Amino acid sequence: MRTKIALLEDIPVGKARIVSIPGGEEIALFNIEGKILALSNECPHDGGPLGEGTIEDCKVTCPWHGWEFNIATGACTNVEGEEAKRYDIEIENGEIFLVTKT
Ligand code: FES
Repeated sequence: MRTKIALLEDIPVGKARIVSIPGGEEIALFNIEGKILALSNECPHDGGPLGEGTIEDCKVTCPWHGWEFNIATGACTNVEGEEAKRYDIEIENGEIFLVTKT
């Protein structure tokens, strides 16, 4: 199933935007060099907002306690074995869709 969640023009390169998806969950959309990637907005450590974190290359640092995540894979790069949930995204005609299995 595809759900429209944002417009491409709303997320400048190098920035993130937090959006709510059906069901109430929040995801963080990142524009990394023109490619849109999506992680849960909820840090697996203690729920910090990853969409408000510091972005550097393809890494985001949680604003609460500094856990770092590879935005492409969700893997935590400074705490072994931890990861943020990833979401599949498709772009079409300037619109961003969340892709979920039904
Ligand atoms: S809540 Fe993200 S590092 Fe603690």
